[in-house]
Amino acid sequence: MSRLETFIDRMVSQRACIDHAAALTQTLTGPVFELGLGNGRTFHHIRETLPERDIFVFERAVASNPDSTPEDHQLILGDVHETLPAALNRFGPNAALIHADLGGHNLAKNDAFARALSPLIEPLLAVGGVMVSSDRMYFDNLTEIALPSEAVAGRCFMYRRDKS
Ligand SMILES: C[S@@+](CC[C@H](N)C(=O)[O-])C[C@H]1O[C@@H](n2cnc3c(N)ncnc32)[C@H](O)[C@@H]1O
Repeated sequence: MSRLETFIDRMVSQRACIDHAAALTQTLTGPVFELGLGNGRTFHHIRETLPERDIFVFERAVASNPDSTPEDHQLILGDVHETLPAALNRFGPNAALIHADLGGHNLAKNDAFARALSPLIEPLLAVGGVMVSSDRMYFDNLTEIALPSEAVAGRCFMYRRDKS
């Protein structure tokens, strides 16, 4: 498989999983968290898909397309190792949807990052809330759920909190 094909699979899977997560969490009222702004493509898609929701974006350095740059009040700037624990104090366990795309090209580094971040992300999710990640996560109390049919296995992962 070429890198182009892998990239396309990732993009298709991100869109399919975000749309699926939005449908699964439509009755929840808590905020949506985007972890990793990057170019802002997935933030833009989430904003288009969920225009009525409060969306907060975690990023250490904003370098997004101007059309896809969050408002200042939506930005939580800094390293997620510090901003995620602070977000638990600010928002409590109420996030309806969390999308994470924080990794780079080094798969081993991405996996270590996912292992370190899992316990920081897990307590933020509301009961019934859904987490979508480009990397496999390591949660103790979230259930891995099936991907939508349009997504490609291994390019995205989805998790839900079934009970508090
Ligand atoms: C792959 S990009 C996200 C791409 C985005 N989903 C899009 O559609 O354009 C990953 C982003 O995560 C951010 N990031 C990586 N590690 C981080 C950390 N420890 N704290 C905060 N942001 C981080 C990077 O700065 C980068 O902008």
